[in-house]
Amino acid sequence: MGNKMTKTPISEMPDFIGQSSAFMQLIESIRQVAPTQITVLITGESGTGKEMIARAIHHLSQRKNHPLINVNCGAIPEGILESELFGHVKGAFTGALETRKGYFELANGGTIFLDEIGEMPLSTQVKLLRVLESQSFMRVGGSTSIQVDVRVIAASNKDLEKAVKHDEFRKDLFYRLNAVHLSAPPLRKRREDIQLLTQHFAERICSENRIQCPEFTEEAMYRLSEYHWPGNIRELRNIVERLIIFEKGQTIDGTIVQRHLEQPGSMEQQLPMVINKTTDQAERELIYRALLDIRVALEDLRRLVVTYHERSIAQSSWTPSGKEIIPNSIDHDTPILTIQELEKQQIEKALIRFRHNRRRAAKALGIGERTLYRKLKEYGLE
Ligand SMILES: Nc1ncnc2c1ncn2[C@@H]1O[C@H](COP(=O)(O)OP(=O)(O)O)[C@@H](O)[C@H]1O
Ligand SMILES: [Mg+2]
Repeated sequence: MGNKMTKTPISEMPDFIGQSSAFMQLIESIRQVAPTQITVLITGESGTGKEMIARAIHHLSQRKNHPLINVNCGAIPEGILESELFGHVKGAFTGALETRKGYFELANGGTIFLDEIGEMPLSTQVKLLRVLESQSFMRVGGSTSIQVDVRVIAASNKDLEKAVKHDEFRKDLFYRLNAVHLSAPPLRKRREDIQLLTQHFAERICSENRIQCPEFTEEAMYRLSEYHWPGNIRELRNIVERLIIFEKGQTIDGTIVQRHLEQPGSMEQQLPMVINKTTDQAERELIYRALLDIRVALEDLRRLVVTYHERSIAQSSWTPSGKEIIPNSIDHDTPILTIQELEKQQIEKALIRFRHNRRRAAKALGIGERTLYRKLKEYGLE
């Protein structure tokens, strides 16, 4: 794999790779919109490169020497998002010990990338619309209007038009953001890029880890280019990483690739990393991510308990003797299990029922695969 065939259509972004017609069309659109002030909405499945597109637009614009601030609206708790975006004045709320600038002020002269905009609460959407219309806003608790010069790029993997229909997203904001719409094609619609990307990621991972780059056989490349890539480029990068780390030094053939593609967890959702952040911001986002994880885990747990409860009612309300048991009647005999014991039992049951297919087990349990993995580890069920 020594021959350099990596294609980088934007010289400022050597990591932005592709040669398919779908990708080249996208690059063309990026070049057209980048120098303007127009708000851009990027849509596409997770892992298709939305964040990279936003970076490309910024780097090809006159704002390139100013900050690009990346905000993941889905990773910041609802109650905090507004003050994160617009800042707050001292005393605006408990804990607001001093006045702080928000991302819009920090991005002044540059670009703000609002990722997962579909997760933005309606109340914040109102404020955002106002900023887009007047380029000014007030800090939370503040009374003076602050003027900024910021270009907004937003991204969503949700169908925003549908969200508008369901009153989850403001129509006026949608039209304002949708001034220019770029759609990031899924990897399975640009298979010509798979080999190129594989090679690019392999080279990068090998040089970062100081290991010799393995050979990929034709069959291996064929398997990779035939796969449906539900997690898109992010999933491809993860698979290549795993292939190189776990199959160190070997020639990577079709069988090895197949084994890794079938391994559950390849789609494991990764929270995107933060770019252009001060340590303070990065730290805060890390905390938010942790909070989000906890929230998701709690939700999972709650669902698990409710499901278990419902199922046990369904199962016990009719006994072989024909005697009906009133649901919720108090059972004085069977021992009370702790929630953890209950959870462990249900997980074991699901694993057995689905013959250790973790994806299906997680689905039946109503929890995410990632949560299931963590719990398996926790309970020593691996
Ligand atoms: N065209 C590309 N060339 C190389 N790497 C890419 C490309 N598009 C995306 N990636 C990589 O794939 C991963 C996911 O991209 P990202 O922009 O975060 O996707 P999204 O925001 O749509 O989920 C990142 O590691 C990114 O660097
Ligand atoms: Mg993203």
